[in-house]
Amino acid sequence: MREVFGTRPWREPDDVPAIISVSNFKGGVGKSTIALHLAQSLAIKGYRVLLIDCDSQASTTMMFGYRPDIDLGENDTLYGHFHDPELLGVQSIIRKTHFFGLDLIPANLKLYNLEYEIAAHLARTHSFDIIDLVSEAIHSVVHDYDVVVMDPPPALGMVSMAVLQAANAMIIPMPPSVIDFSSTVSFIDMARTTMQQLEEAGSRVRPAYNFIRVLGSRVDESKSMHRELLAMMREVFGGSMLSSVMPTSAEIDNASSRMKTVYELERAVTSHEVHTRCLNHLNAVCDDVERDILRTWSSRAGKGMI
Ligand SMILES: Nc1ncnc2c1ncn2[C@@H]1O[C@H](COP(=O)(O)OP(=O)(O)OP(=O)(O)O)[C@@H](O)[C@H]1O
Ligand SMILES: [Mg+2]
Repeated sequence: MREVFGTRPWREPDDVPAIISVSNFKGGVGKSTIALHLAQSLAIKGYRVLLIDCDSQASTTMMFGYRPDIDLGENDTLYGHFHDPELLGVQSIIRKTHFFGLDLIPANLKLYNLEYEIAAHLARTHSFDIIDLVSEAIHSVVHDYDVVVMDPPPALGMVSMAVLQAANAMIIPMPPSVIDFSSTVSFIDMARTTMQQLEEAGSRVRPAYNFIRVLGSRVDESKSMHRELLAMMREVFGGSMLSSVMPTSAEIDNASSRMKTVYELERAVTSHEVHTRCLNHLNAVCDDVERDILRTWSSRAGKGMI
């Protein structure tokens, strides 16, 4: 229908596709939850989205109905592409999903071997070209998409480094706790140093971010400590913080225990009120990110279309 009515939100060919990494080396901060809901939300709006599971835990892959280590072989993930980019080509590991407009590059445990193999390659060749692997894979297919969303593992290892290198935008989910705050600050610091080192080492791809946003995740505003820390985060990160936050919601846990996202639930698992509140928060976060994306597209920016 969008095609017929001319309301498809696709980017113009000259607009740079958004390649968003949802990163933080702290585990369990909501990276996969945000990456998955963001990818689905954008697909629902009619964008062409590629979601890349870069985490060998493969929790995002599971949400698409795969049993990663039974249904998928090593050649079905980025690991396969790493071994034989010529033969396989990244196109062959992209899968259609049950979501219209949303494609997936899945992961499984084998992907973890990439950590060792990239490190061994670096030690053997002293060349950082291998870090450009993910970037080159994306660039060979990105013309078919408006947005690429990447879900990296909770570590600043080789794969995460390659993901940071490939991205042109970053969302950093961060729960409002002192521990998460200090580890996120260390993550940002380390990511910056790593990117600088890669640039000095002559990596072919020069990372440049169109936007970096810290997102308050797993927020419980009934806790005074969360409210205080959120206020501090807004002060410290200023305009780099997304204005909407993602609160802790029982509906997210309920949906994920049914191997679904909140967008896929046919009806509320909790109460109608909790379900609607959760959807509203998810939509607000995804709308904020969509606005950031559109600002980077010259066909939209400054034309009152955002
Ligand atoms: N806003 C939320 N409300 C309630 N539960 C949440 C929320 N965000 C995430 N969770 C739950 O917390 C757990 C961890 O979330 P998630 O897998 O998204 O984090 P992650 O940062 O990707 O973790 P990892 O570092 O292990 O990859 C999951 O069980 C998820 O369902
Ligand atoms: Mg995850």
